[in-house]
Amino acid sequence: MHVMNIIPAYNLACPIDKLELVKKENYYQCTNGHCFDIAKQGYVNLLPVQHKKSKNPGDSKAMVQARTRFLNAGFYLPIAEQLSKIVLHQLGNTATESRCVFDAGCGEGYYLQQIINAAQYIDNNTQFSFVAMDISKPAIINASKRSKQVSWIVGTNSQPPFMPETVDLIFCVFGFPSYNGFKKILKAGGELILVEPGAKHLQELREIIYTEAAQEKSENKSDANTEYLLIDTQTLTYEINLNNNSQIQDLLTMTPHLFRASSEGKACIENMDSLSLTTDIIFRVFKYNPVSNYP
Ligand SMILES: C[S@@+](CC[C@H](N)C(=O)[O-])C[C@H]1O[C@@H](n2cnc3c(N)ncnc32)[C@H](O)[C@@H]1O
Repeated sequence: MHVMNIIPAYNLACPIDKLELVKKENYYQCTNGHCFDIAKQGYVNLLPVQHKKSKNPGDSKAMVQARTRFLNAGFYLPIAEQLSKIVLHQLGNTATESRCVFDAGCGEGYYLQQIINAAQYIDNNTQFSFVAMDISKPAIINASKRSKQVSWIVGTNSQPPFMPETVDLIFCVFGFPSYNGFKKILKAGGELILVEPGAKHLQELREIIYTEAAQEKSENKSDANTEYLLIDTQTLTYEINLNNNSQIQDLLTMTPHLFRASSEGKACIENMDSLSLTTDIIFRVFKYNPVSNYP
């Protein structure tokens, strides 16, 4: 049976001078001599200190570990399955020689791993490279344990370290999309998939931990600019049942809710042993249209 042909990233750029990075045995190097070691876990750190706003940006080790446990328990598998279908549909559309798929803000790599599993038997002659990046080093260290088929990178969405116009598809799950950053690297006609919480997502948890005003605030969604043409919107709603306090704590820890929750709300969560929650997700697919005809 034909198995998908997966190759390492071929289009990475130096985060300092934007020149092409060439992979040597255990490091990447640009023609100006900037070198970036490949860590023993297999990832490369392309986040120079001048692109960092804090010493340890992004999710902490505790958040990453909580998310790994929660996702591995399968609560968000339906989200991964629907995303896989959308990505596979886009990948099957054209058969060019090589295609680059980029998970922007990949966390600990759960969604990309599910997509690669689903894509193993795509039957065409295309070479695929799967690149996943997060600004959090603990997230990427955990992610690199998931798969050797992915090129794992520490870096930022605002300055993604790719050569211009070399990425075919970007997806961003519960993340921090940078429309300007993505514009520099997407091919014309390339796609951006955003997976974001809908208005009812985890509403039962929000009712416990927030005041009314804070609940409304947490529902704001980002909007792409006019060079991104919305071509598809899908939704997914289902119920999950958390059956012990550790699962409830993990969910709280892996989301920004932990920082925004009231102390009364957090105390209430500490005493709960079960919680049924609504999962409400919106998937939006945009086509990147560099010379936009849309006002
Ligand atoms: C809510 S988590 C989602 C992680 C993953 N996509 C998932 O759904 O499991 C948001 C992630 O975005 C990362 N992040 C925050 N700012 C970022 C940036 N500027 N560039 C790349 N990743 C960023 C965080 O470190 C964190 O891992």
